[in-house]
Amino acid sequence: MTFPINFFKNKKIFITGHTGFKGSWLCLLLHKLGAEVYGYALNPPTKPSLYEEAKIDTYISSYIGDIRDLEKLERTIRHIQPEIVIHMAAQPLVRESYKNPIETYQTNVIGTANLLEACRRVPSIKAIVNITTDKCYENKEWIWGYRENEPLGGYDPYSSSKACSELVTAAYRNSFFPPGDYPKHGVAVASARAGNVIGGGDWAEDRLIPDFIKSISQNKQIKIRNPYAIRPWQHVMEPLTGYLMLAEKLYSQGVDFGEAWNFGPDDNDAKNVEWIIKTICNLWGNDPTYILDTTEQPHEANYLKLDCSKAKTKLGWHPVWNIQKALQSVVEWNKAYFNGENIKDITEQQIDEYLQTFNEINQ
Ligand SMILES: NC(=O)c1ccc[n+]([C@@H]2O[C@H](COP(=O)([O-])OP(=O)(O)OC[C@H]3O[C@@H](n4cnc5c(N)ncnc54)[C@H](O)[C@@H]3O)[C@@H](O)[C@H]2O)c1
Repeated sequence: MTFPINFFKNKKIFITGHTGFKGSWLCLLLHKLGAEVYGYALNPPTKPSLYEEAKIDTYISSYIGDIRDLEKLERTIRHIQPEIVIHMAAQPLVRESYKNPIETYQTNVIGTANLLEACRRVPSIKAIVNITTDKCYENKEWIWGYRENEPLGGYDPYSSSKACSELVTAAYRNSFFPPGDYPKHGVAVASARAGNVIGGGDWAEDRLIPDFIKSISQNKQIKIRNPYAIRPWQHVMEPLTGYLMLAEKLYSQGVDFGEAWNFGPDDNDAKNVEWIIKTICNLWGNDPTYILDTTEQPHEANYLKLDCSKAKTKLGWHPVWNIQKALQSVVEWNKAYFNGENIKDITEQQIDEYLQTFNEINQ
């Protein structure tokens, strides 16, 4: 199976959260594929941001608005008349969710309901993908990967808000876009659960790689909280290609694909935090040292892996870059950034390289 490069040409795609880290990569990817891209989000959540550094608003149509504002959201979608919707706007940080739980729930849960409600009222839409997270599962701290049919949960407000977003998606699908009535409504709705994403252009607080890059740029030793926590690390292009392959199937084949999907790395790429830090230090050319942050920390999961057999079997999606290659691309991207190189160019070069490898290994 090859990546459906030609499918997106001239398709109208509405992305929420386009000013964020993943949203910015997705805008550049879709722009490259010839799609008409429309984004709806608040201003970029960080300074600097990939969105501003790569001047993404010059390549797509950007609408700045709050996902909690149903009226504005509906007006915007009605005006655009998109065919495909990818919902990524969220408060995406666990530790921020401990500080601001209500805002996290309002954005992540009511925001999802608003998006689906607005989509329900605009008949041009054929495919909707809601982006949640690997953290939406009830975490049993076991060694096996979670499958899509396992119980939802979430210990902290962020994780549980994303589990709620999954439930809202399922309820809207059952109630307003029922698979049995697909010939009448013509809308297929899915959700996508991906792991810890890395890539150039992420400046979020309290994420390992952005924290590492900040420490390097300030000549400080990196402080880490939980060196033995294992996460499903993957380059940002991995889930983005998964979301687009899923969107294509929802559009072309409808309700058979209207369910939840995991997109994570292969098992041997689920590494602990210490391994990631040592490897990225080596790639950067630094001594692999860190200091432990021993201050009291809110609860975070220690062990989290996804079982992606379904995406591999039914979508033909597979991880392309192993963790070593993903970290190498992050280092190259950041070195280029510090050297003042053109950020849109370097990001697009990495997109091209990724897609080329994707097609080579899937031939
Ligand atoms: N980055 C990861 O490792 C990761 C892992 C799993 C899932 N996700 C999910 O992927 C999506 C994108 O994550 P990201 O890392 O790009 O986050 P990000 O913080 O970089 O971007 C979030 C986006 O949401 C927008 N947003 C936030 N609150 C909003 C509101 N009230 N109204 C409208 N827009 C709002 C921001 O403006 C921004 O465009 C999120 O849904 C996140 O939960 C991310």
